[in-house]
Amino acid sequence: FNISQFNQDLIRWFYKYKRDLPWRQTKNPYYIWVSEVMLQQTQVDTVIPYYQRFITKFPTPQDLASADEEAVLKIWEGLGYYSRARNLQQGVREVVENYQGRVPDNKNDILSIKGIGPYTAGAVLSIAYDRPEPAVDGNVMRVLSRVFLIDDDIAKQKTRRLFEEIIYRIIPESDPSAFNQGLMEIGALICKPKQAKCEQCPLAAHCGAYEEGVQTEYPVKKKK
Ligand code: ADE
Repeated sequence: FNISQFNQDLIRWFYKYKRDLPWRQTKNPYYIWVSEVMLQQTQVDTVIPYYQRFITKFPTPQDLASADEEAVLKIWEGLGYYSRARNLQQGVREVVENYQGRVPDNKNDILSIKGIGPYTAGAVLSIAYDRPEPAVDGNVMRVLSRVFLIDDDIAKQKTRRLFEEIIYRIIPESDPSAFNQGLMEIGALICKPKQAKCEQCPLAAHCGAYEEGVQTEYPVKKKK
């Protein structure tokens, strides 16, 4: 397995084919955080107008921290999973109180914040701060389970950690943001659950499942 070729194929593809999404116009860690929270249970197309209204209404952590919860929930209305909005506001209040409004750029501090788990921490650290940290969501597990023929149950907590360990060995120091977003984008556009478009995939040359023609058998969701 050629790591530098894999990274080059992934990152070049990302810059050529990435969707032009509003949170890709910024490296503001607070905006990246907002976008990732919204994207966790909601489709990209639905998130776009909510994201734009949210950052217009609450352009800085201080604005969100000092807002009434009802004002936040009103902007969130229609997105669902309202505890996401409450946790986000609580987390941002911690950032304003404890970090002078600056989202922490290290793993320990960022993981201590309300509502920030391993995925959101990795996404913010890599996308906003260019840190080589994994950001493993369902899309990324699907892509990598196919590339590396990993048949561990992706519903298990331990399996996410396995994917994180693999990513730590591969992710480049140079552009970890494009690496992580490239994996997310391939999961969203190419390496779909049912119809994987392997003929368009920049990772086909590196992919165990493609080589064996077993894409649809991965990821494994519950072990026999
Ligand atoms: N899904 C989760 N994070 C995303 C991102 N940064 N861009 C597009 N889709 C995503």
